[in-house]
Amino acid sequence: MLSCRGLISFANAILASFIRTWYGISLAMLFITTMLSHRIGLSFGSLFVSIISWPSSALSQSNDSSGNSPGLPMVINTWGGDFIAATDAAFLSLVRSGASALDAVEIGCATCEANQCDGSVGYGGSPDENCETTLDAMIMDGTTMKSGSVAALRRVKDAISVARAVLEHTTHTMLAGELATDFAISNGFIAQNLTTADSAASCEAWRAAGCQPNYRINVTPDPAKSCGPYSPVVATNSSSLTSITDRTSPLMTRRAIQGHDTISMIALHGSGGSMAAGTSTNGASRKIPGRVGDGPITGSGSYVDADVGGCGATGDGDIMMRFLPCYQAVESMRQGMSPQLAAEDAVRRMLRKYPDVQSGLVVVNSKGEHGAAASGWTFTYAYRGGSMDGTVVVSVPPLEET
Ligand SMILES: *[C@@H]1O[C@H](CO)[C@@H](O)[C@H](O)[C@H]1NC(C)=O
Ligand SMILES: *[C@@H]1O[C@H](CO)[C@@H](O)[C@H](O)[C@H]1NC(C)=O
Ligand SMILES: *[C@@H]1O[C@H](CO)[C@@H](O)[C@H](O)[C@H]1NC(C)=O
Repeated sequence: MLSCRGLISFANAILASFIRTWYGISLAMLFITTMLSHRIGLSFGSLFVSIISWPSSALSQSNDSSGNSPGLPMVINTWGGDFIAATDAAFLSLVRSGASALDAVEIGCATCEANQCDGSVGYGGSPDENCETTLDAMIMDGTTMKSGSVAALRRVKDAISVARAVLEHTTHTMLAGELATDFAISNGFIAQNLTTADSAASCEAWRAAGCQPNYRINVTPDPAKSCGPYSPVVATNSSSLTSITDRTSPLMTRRAIQGHDTISMIALHGSGGSMAAGTSTNGASRKIPGRVGDGPITGSGSYVDADVGGCGATGDGDIMMRFLPCYQAVESMRQGMSPQLAAEDAVRRMLRKYPDVQSGLVVVNSKGEHGAAASGWTFTYAYRGGSMDGTVVVSVPPLEET
């Protein structure tokens, strides 16, 4: 077993040095060997997974995250549960395989895409009105500030890796829709049907129940009763339209009950101070075809500046992307706020206009000190760093009203 692991890390060290030239091959090998070593370590690792619950009073009053860094390297991401496998895969790639921070984020998010974490990441989840799953992903390098993303990606499972291809093989930042699929195929990714028996059945059940609930407003026929097709309602006066400031979809409430969505991850490399961040999601169930959420938006789904720190977000993306909460949190840290205060501040900026918004933000500075804040649901995040034997999950109650 030891010699097997030794061989694995030796192979990875060799492979890592070829990353630039042999990017595709080496990354696949890194991923496979990391998953392998993860499986070897799984029986031990899972013993150490623990839940820490912070009382909300401690959370909302503390503005001091100092001293809570587990040490570097470190990986931190939204959610526990299924998502812990992603934390572990990313962390182990850093310590065992000599992966870069960017590699670690890609490996972590790809783990959730392959595992279909909670049905909210990867293929076969969150079917849109047409029963199709489309993917949003972004990856960002905190040293160069380059970011690559794909939005409403169709028929390709590997959204985070396609986002990285945008980062590495173009001078663009975002590609979208069917043409992003063409780009992915031309970069060697495989096109396949993202619908599964489960996602098809869930979509059919929704249609059979009159397409309730859905995201349509101000249309006729009444979207609370009908599947459409819809036409816009012509406003006779301004108060005849649904208020645009105060609507949290019942679909988000349903998701809150399920518990999880998007994976957003930040990786801190042990040496050289490099950091990366990324996000991957299949978006909102029953979304209107073409909808893009906060996930692939730089500064919203995640953000990182290795001089300061990084942030990952999850929640009601349609609202959150209007506030760039991760950009806000990182910039607040630059101005001197602790990670904890920066997270709370960014969430409160959304609550000011959308008191019902469901959000979760995890924030980490370049030293690995971290904090989080949530609204509308109990959020969890996972981290592993330094010499930790396993991933720790922290439960974050919603901010209390002030
Ligand atoms: C929070 O920070 C402010 C200013 O930085 C400080 O005055 C205050 O004592 C801190 N509060 C806590 C609970 O640490
Ligand atoms: C994708 O798979 C689903 C479920 O198996 C099927 O209903 C659908 O027709 C397929 N779509 C295409 C384009 O092949
Ligand atoms: C505006 O529209 C609402 C809803 O249709 C209606 O109840 C109200 O009387 C209208 N107000 C005016 C000034 O026309």
